[in-house]
Amino acid sequence: MQRLIVIMALPIAAGLCACNSLRPKTASAASLTESITASSSIEQSKIDFPTQIKPIFEARCQPCHFNGGKVYAHLPFDRPETIKRLGTKLFTRIKDDKEQQLIRQFLGQND
Ligand code: HEC
Repeated sequence: MQRLIVIMALPIAAGLCACNSLRPKTASAASLTESITASSSIEQSKIDFPTQIKPIFEARCQPCHFNGGKVYAHLPFDRPETIKRLGTKLFTRIKDDKEQQLIRQFLGQND
């Protein structure tokens, strides 16, 4: 009879254990959420591709690097990936300091 009680108590004890070990995980998940929220307030100074970067190329690199252009299939400048991939190579054609600065800032972003 006593053995039966021990057997029944085991899963309960194990359950409590699992609960305790879960608690720190929940806490770290909460602080992770906090840091994500905190960093999103910095995002206001983030460079926005469609409104800040794309117009630079639209103004200067049409029609070739845009829809219908001869290198659009190969190097589409309406895609952030192309700009990230080419990086500072673009500065052989984009000479304006302010535009270079914006593009540099955009290249440094992690998204
Ligand atoms: C008259 C058409 C035309 C215009 C306008 C044009 N390009 Fe290009 N661009 C090309 C062609 C053609 C290539 C070669 C594509 C290839 O490598 O297959 C090219 C390639 C490139 C490359 C890749 C070079 C390399 O070393 O890999 C970059 C960077 C580039 N262009 C930047 C620009 C920028 C920035 C502008 C606007 C300021 C621009 N291009 C405007 C036609 C154009």
